[in-house]
Amino acid sequence: MILIKLGGSVITDKREYRRFNREIVARLCSEIKESGKEVIVVHGAGSFGHVLAKKHSLNSGFVNKDQIPAVAQVCYDVRELNSMIIKELNDAGIPSISMPPGSCFMMCDRTISLEGGNVIRSMVDKGLMPVLFGDVVQDEELGFAICSGDQIMERLSEIYDFEKIIFVSDIDGLFDDDPKNNPNAKLFEYVNIDTLESVRSGSTVDDVTGGVYEKMMSMLRMTSSDRECVLINGTVPGRLLSALNGEDVICTTAKGGIQ
Ligand code: IPE
Repeated sequence: MILIKLGGSVITDKREYRRFNREIVARLCSEIKESGKEVIVVHGAGSFGHVLAKKHSLNSGFVNKDQIPAVAQVCYDVRELNSMIIKELNDAGIPSISMPPGSCFMMCDRTISLEGGNVIRSMVDKGLMPVLFGDVVQDEELGFAICSGDQIMERLSEIYDFEKIIFVSDIDGLFDDDPKNNPNAKLFEYVNIDTLESVRSGSTVDDVTGGVYEKMMSMLRMTSSDRECVLINGTVPGRLLSALNGEDVICTTAKGGIQ
């Protein structure tokens, strides 16, 4: 089984509140179907989550009651995004069910406990794909907290024995500088903990869950000797399909884990 994260940068336009990239998502779902691989899909929130979460400091947890309408709005927005993604998956022939983390799980000081592991297994055994996503989750310590899709990926990778983990974004992989601003930025084919320390971390858009550095750290934690973890560009047609089929693709592969 392969674990895929459809990042917010590819499924939405992160610069514009609630802008869904329907065509790209439909194509990515068709590529998953065409591969014939058994997968679990997690997705990010993109501009359905980060914009309001940043504006109302939701990543700080509960500070005051003024945040509560924003919590409800972000939960509403990411559920709408999830419904649109589920529709594209179902239309592509992948029977899928929404599993909103904020309605199914708790966190404790930003650590999620996926106690619904049995529910996930039961769905997968029947050929139903649970789709989890970045959400606002109730937190025993903080009141509530942002739970990113990457955190969910990490927890799922502890529960399941995935052969491969694929992060789908809007860039070819990890660069030594921002490729959107610097045309000479160099792509890392592989990254380990040492190369990562030398990378400049920066984001031009609202992102409350840490950007590319945090993503790479979490990718490194998910690697093992028999499990590859790659970051690919989903805006390029066919790249997800090739990655699923085990072909060589332009990407960054996380190597060596974190000791
Ligand atoms: C963020 O999830 C969740 C919210 C802001 C509610 P992610 O961190 O996984 O989303 P992307 O992939 O960066 O957009």
